[in-house]
Amino acid sequence: MGKNLEITEKLQKYIDNFSLKLNPVQQEIIDYNNTLGDIKRMQVATSQCHFLHLIIKISNIKNALEIGTFTGLSALSISLALPDDGKLVALDKNEETSRVAIDFFKKANQDHKIKTIIKPALKSLEELKNDKFDMIFIDADKMNYKEYYERSLKLLDKNGLVIIDNVLWHGEVADEANIDKFTLYIREFNAHVAQDKRVEQIIVPLGDGMTVCRLL
Ligand SMILES: C[S@@+](CC[C@H](N)C(=O)[O-])C[C@H]1O[C@@H](n2cnc3c(N)ncnc32)[C@H](O)[C@@H]1O
Repeated sequence: MGKNLEITEKLQKYIDNFSLKLNPVQQEIIDYNNTLGDIKRMQVATSQCHFLHLIIKISNIKNALEIGTFTGLSALSISLALPDDGKLVALDKNEETSRVAIDFFKKANQDHKIKTIIKPALKSLEELKNDKFDMIFIDADKMNYKEYYERSLKLLDKNGLVIIDNVLWHGEVADEANIDKFTLYIREFNAHVAQDKRVEQIIVPLGDGMTVCRLL
C-alpha cells in the first residue's frame, strides 16, 4: 500500500508554487483573516479553493449555494469559477463578517453573481425550498450538519454535488479514544453519509477533510 505524504510547510509552499494561482482578492481575504487571530482557522485552505474551482469548471456548475460564508474566501473561490451568468447564494448569520465578505465580493467584481443572505441558515434554507442548485458547499455550525445535508439533497437535481467541509475534524474522527461532543457528532454524520444510498461519496483529505457527494 502506498504511504500518504505528510504535507509540511515547505512542501505546501512547493505545491502552491506549482498550482493554480490565487486571485489578488482571494489573497487579500487571507491576509485580512490573518489579522483576526485564532478565528482565521475558519477559512478554507488554499488547496480547497483550487479544488472547488476545478470541480465547478469540470461539472459546468451554474447555480451554487454556500452554507457558512465567514469573510468570503470559499464563496469568492466558487464565484470566480462560475460562468459570468452563474449565481451563488451565500448564507451566514453573522452580520459583521458578512459585510466584510460583501466588500470583498465587490472588490473582485463578483457582486453581480453573489446574493448574500444574513440570517440563521435553517431559516434561509426554508425560504429557498423551491429553488434548485447544482452544487452546495456546507461549512457552517457542525451540530446542524445532518439537517443541512438532508435539506441540501432536496435542493439538488440528479448529479448535483454536495460538498461538506471539516469531516476529518483535525484527524480526531479516527481516534476512537476521542469522545468529545463535536468529534462524536462528525463521526456520526460521516457514518450517516457513508451508508446513504442516494449518493456516491468520497472523502478528500484537503484542508480539514471534505466529503464530495454526487446525487444519484
Ligand atoms: C467555518 S466558517 C465558514 C468559512 C468560510 N467557508 C470560508 O472559507 O471562509 C463558519 C461560518 O458559519 C456561520 N454560521 C454558524 N452557525 C450558523 C447558522 N446557524 N446559520 C448561518 N451561519 C452560521 C458562522 O457565522 C461562520 O461565519
